Amino acid sequence: MDHSALWLLFLLCVMCPGHAWVASNFLMTGPKAYLTYAGSVQVGTQSGIEECKHQFAWDRWNCPDSATQQKGLRRATRETSFVHAISAAGVMYTLTRNCSLGDLDDCGCDVSQNGKIGGRGWLWGGCSDNVDFGERISKQYVDSQETGQDSRAAVNLHNNAAGRQAVKATMKRICRCHGMSESCSVQTCWTALSDFREIGNYLKMKHSQAQKLDVDKKRMRAGNSADSRGAIVDAFGSIAQTELIYLEDSPDYCRKNTSLGLYGTEGRECLQHGEGLTQWERRSCRRLCHECGLRVEERRTEVVSSCNCKFHWCCKVNCEDCSQVLVKHVCARREGGDGHGFRRRHRGPK
Ligand SMILES: *[C@@H]1O[C@H](CO)[C@@H](O)[C@H](O)[C@H]1NC(C)=O
Ligand SMILES: *[C@@H]1O[C@H](CO)[C@@H](O)[C@H](O)[C@H]1NC(C)=O
Repeated sequence: MDHSALWLLFLLCVMCPGHAWVASNFLMTGPKAYLTYAGSVQVGTQSGIEECKHQFAWDRWNCPDSATQQKGLRRATRETSFVHAISAAGVMYTLTRNCSLGDLDDCGCDVSQNGKIGGRGWLWGGCSDNVDFGERISKQYVDSQETGQDSRAAVNLHNNAAGRQAVKATMKRICRCHGMSESCSVQTCWTALSDFREIGNYLKMKHSQAQKLDVDKKRMRAGNSADSRGAIVDAFGSIAQTELIYLEDSPDYCRKNTSLGLYGTEGRECLQHGEGLTQWERRSCRRLCHECGLRVEERRTEVVSSCNCKFHWCCKVNCEDCSQVLVKHVCARREGGDGHGFRRRHRGPK
């Protein structure tokens, strides 16, 4: 990528008010190289948020609607660490894919190892996904949103990087056999991105293991900026790059809290019965409704669709209209109560 374009990006971003996500502004005004990537950055961010929605479908907290919803991201909780990581991973993933598919003029497969021996019986060959490119460009775009010098900015940057590590950690080696009638005496192999779902699963596990960062508050408050930076560096200590970290305990996700950008669990769907549900899914009504002081309400909707279609020679298809009742369960307020408080057995941030 053209370096002057990147510098322009940095300058513009430092100037942009609130340092919010600005990709859409650039779509109209930026230089061509920037425009090319900006589209991928937007697509990647959105796919991160969609994956977040999937991963947290049956959790009390279920992700912001978009990465531009800044309110919910102002604190550095266990959940915002996931949002940062999955968004950063989504952007890196999309850029890397774009690169391998030949969508981008100035980048292609990573063939730097091709022809070299990779291991016993195999050589590097084919199109390895160019994660170095994806990592470099996505870092420039995503990390430039974080302009603060405080511990929260440091935590966000760490979690962005952990998201990018997840893309690399889940990569797979794929091989193809060669040799006489596919005897597989020689194989060529390349590395490929996993499905984005696997990256989501991996980061969900990292979310459950996230560590709270212990920053020396006294040193932060008393000190000059060098002192605070020292306190931040010390707090990071031996935390591995792959781990998610947070600063603040999670708020009560049962309750709506507009100032925190939280909707609460009222109105959320849960799974009551069904085959093949995981234990986590089977307990969703308890977790989202009962333990939040809400009751489970059954909602029935009638859906009309075509059925009993018959094919008449030639060439007509006649169908009947069939109606089907769909049953859904949602959390609803208890009659008489404020919907919270009593019969509340658990207040943890599940
Ligand atoms: C990159 O990939 C995304 C998702 O597949 C696609 O929507 C976007 O158009 C691609 N970007 C370019 C420059 O082709
Ligand atoms: C929203 O959260 C803030 C910060 O935790 C808290 O002070 C406030 O009381 C909460 N508001 C409601 C309505 O729960």
